[in-house]
Amino acid sequence: MYTFKINDKEIKTTKNMSLLNFLRDEMQITSVKNGCSEGACGTCMVLLDKKAFRACLLTTEKINGKSIMTVEGIEEKERKIYEWAFAEAGAVQCGFCIPGMVISSKGLLDININPTENDIKKALRGNICRCTGYVKIIEAVMKVAKAIREGYEPDNSYTGKIGERTPRIDAQDKISGKAIYSEDLKIENLYYGGAVRTKYPRALVKKINTSKALETSGVESVYLASDIPGNRNIGHLSFISDWDALIAVGEITRYIGDAVALVLAKDKESLKRGIAAIEVEYEELQPLTSPKMSLEENAPKIHEKGNVLFSQKLSRGNVENALKSSKYVVTHTYKTPFTEHAYLEPESAIAVPTKHGVHLYTSSQSIYDEQREVSRLLGVDPSLVEVTSNYVGGGFGGKEDMSVQHHAALMAYLSKKNVQVTLSRQESINVSTKRHAMEIEMTTSCDENGILTGMKCNILSDTGAYSSLGGPVLQRACTHASGPYNYHN
Ligand code: FES
Ligand code: FES
Repeated sequence: MYTFKINDKEIKTTKNMSLLNFLRDEMQITSVKNGCSEGACGTCMVLLDKKAFRACLLTTEKINGKSIMTVEGIEEKERKIYEWAFAEAGAVQCGFCIPGMVISSKGLLDININPTENDIKKALRGNICRCTGYVKIIEAVMKVAKAIREGYEPDNSYTGKIGERTPRIDAQDKISGKAIYSEDLKIENLYYGGAVRTKYPRALVKKINTSKALETSGVESVYLASDIPGNRNIGHLSFISDWDALIAVGEITRYIGDAVALVLAKDKESLKRGIAAIEVEYEELQPLTSPKMSLEENAPKIHEKGNVLFSQKLSRGNVENALKSSKYVVTHTYKTPFTEHAYLEPESAIAVPTKHGVHLYTSSQSIYDEQREVSRLLGVDPSLVEVTSNYVGGGFGGKEDMSVQHHAALMAYLSKKNVQVTLSRQESINVSTKRHAMEIEMTTSCDENGILTGMKCNILSDTGAYSSLGGPVLQRACTHASGPYNYHN
């Protein structure tokens, strides 16, 4: 038996488990966020005997006899100061990191109410914010310290009058941890779903054996591509739906994030065991790892229509003349890499079956696209797919695609159960689309006075295995290629 205090309340448990999971799943304390579960992000920060620690690195056994505080446990008068200061400083955007920031700040201010900027930076070094940047957060902590020192009692009500400085309307909920993100949503009789991902980026799926998974205790059901009632392909651009929700037996995977089966289970542990019990026979094939490789004459076609998604040509003036008649001409090749969007909230969705369709609760950026894509997948009228967006813990364009929403919806529709699908940080990195890598050959010319005369640019953009937003992204790259400069050619 382990005994400890959480927000001054004595708790006893026989379960030895991650403190993060204990707080979120057993205690329903959702200000403590799960950004990575591996000690990297700081969204799960708690005070352990007044010192800031990451809950995902602690267990109930490790905190035996100790005391834990979360944002919910901060005394109301003090919490109002944090709510005022973080909102006033504009330190809150998606808000997913903020309760953790508040905890680390409190850990500092409880022992040093007159901190320097460096003291604050040191106290926050375990907390990552992807949206705001740290300047405003540091400013907020300074404001909290000053307010506590001077006994200031903020009035957190705002009239919303035009001309009056007004903080964002959701700031207080995000700071106090009351804001509900998708994984925080509490729904009765919730089942947990997850995907079996391909072992190889490019492989022929020869056989899928689900029998061991179905015999695993706690596993409710397993779904394959053949179970999809509607259109198997999804795609953000309605005219190019090329992304298989599940890769079928006899078909070839295209990237490491491809799903080959879905498992539905009564709890998270059974889900892990069920996923591990699915047996897939593959024939590994050589993957296409760059646009250049996929443009080679004998390159295998990863989609029926070939490997080129989209070509865009943009021209103005007469660039060949400009280059020929300019004093100086410079050509360089530039490369930009794939970039992970790195939102702090991993993808999460809950689907609840309705009489003829589903109600989806998501953390995505694009509810109407989800309605369209999910209804096509289920083969139902879009009006039968309702979508509610919860708070979004950062997106940056990376949460426009389907990642978990369609899988949650499919499992809920087929099983008639409430289903949650949440990606782990590693799975999110493997599955999510990235900022497109590009290879850019650019020729620039100018006259003897350095006045720019012409620019010619060839861009090869890597959209990855699926179209996603590759077309519009390439178009944007073309229209923005000249940067802020005034070229006439
Ligand atoms: S550090 Fe614990 S969830 Fe990221
Ligand atoms: S406000 Fe910090 S991660 Fe979004």
